[in-house]
Amino acid sequence: MKRKRELLDQSDDEDDVTVVEWRRPKKPARGDDKCRKLILVNIVVFSIFIVPMIAISHLNHENILSGLDKIMGERCNSKIWKPKNITSLTTNLERYFFGQHIAKSLILSALTRRWQREKAYTKALVMSFHGWTGSGKNYLAKFIADSLFKRGIKSTFVQSFVSTVHFHDAKLADDYKLALKEWILTNVTRCAETLFIFDEVDKMPAGVLDVLKPFMDHHSVINGVDMSQATFILLSNTGGRQITRTTFELWQAGKKREEIRYSDYEEMILNGAFNEDGGLQKSLLIDRSLIDIYVPFLPLEHRHVRQCIERELEDRGLDVSDGTANVLVDQVISELTFWPPDIKMYSSTGCKRIVQKVDEVLYDQGL
Ligand SMILES: *[C@@H]1O[C@H](CO)[C@@H](O)[C@H](O)[C@H]1NC(C)=O
Ligand SMILES: *[C@@H]1O[C@H](CO)[C@@H](O)[C@H](O)[C@H]1NC(C)=O
Ligand SMILES: [Mg+2]
Repeated sequence: MKRKRELLDQSDDEDDVTVVEWRRPKKPARGDDKCRKLILVNIVVFSIFIVPMIAISHLNHENILSGLDKIMGERCNSKIWKPKNITSLTTNLERYFFGQHIAKSLILSALTRRWQREKAYTKALVMSFHGWTGSGKNYLAKFIADSLFKRGIKSTFVQSFVSTVHFHDAKLADDYKLALKEWILTNVTRCAETLFIFDEVDKMPAGVLDVLKPFMDHHSVINGVDMSQATFILLSNTGGRQITRTTFELWQAGKKREEIRYSDYEEMILNGAFNEDGGLQKSLLIDRSLIDIYVPFLPLEHRHVRQCIERELEDRGLDVSDGTANVLVDQVISELTFWPPDIKMYSSTGCKRIVQKVDEVLYDQGL
């Protein structure tokens, strides 16, 4: 009995012990739970924040940015949409822009300087292109747009005007002036670095071009809009005749084309040779020298037109390196007129409409 009691006591004791022992493991169990929760929280945190961060740091940064940019659409203050890519400009000019070594070096040096020192602009950049039809003025303007904005000439930040289309009626000159002023202000408000291209400025009604003058001045702020980041390109045939004459005279004097310098045309430009009939003649732009760069476009010789045609054929997948395309090239050349009549030195229409002419010749050949 006593023994039993002892046993019972013992068992009681044991019970107590087991109770105690049963209670004790409860604490470590709670600890395990906490551990599990902690691990779970860690996994969640890791997968929500850390994994994407690792992914981002391993992926190409530009891809993500350009993805974002594509969703958000074209933006002015984005390196993706506004690359200011001098490398691509240089490459394009090497590949497609023939016979204009002066224009090439003027533009590349001016834009390299400007695009690398963004904060230092004090004035809108104004460039005036002069030369014969087909010498490549529109072409160069297009390549500048392509290197400044990803969407190039199609960018919403490039505004192109053709005088004979947008300002064709001289009676509406006053309306044009008001509209033009408004367009410049709204566009530059939206994007400070808007590129304006005015084609055939020599055919603008008198006075319309003068509207541009205040926008092109130094430290120009108009209605609170800072103009200093904008770029204007003016295209005209004005001066083309003088440029051609000078080029021809230099050739007669035995000067190699590649050795002709900007200074050979500078005097002509400074003497106001571009003041022939047309918009620039009466414009105040010349007087105030608001134009930063005058770019002379030389008349194109046979060999330059050949290069244009060969590049066009090459871009269509034809091999031009072995001379088999020469027949095609000659055929296109034979459709063009050259000047002056006796020695047929320069193409009257430069490389203009080469694309259509190549079309026709290839069609005739059944290619
Ligand atoms: C600039 O253009 C070159 C060649 O066209 C291209 O390889 C490069 O990625 C471009 N750079 C930028 C910043 O867009
Ligand atoms: C920008 O200029 C164009 C004309 O080229 C005009 O139609 C447009 O309303 C202007 N403003 C804006 C904000 O696009
Ligand atoms: Mg033109």
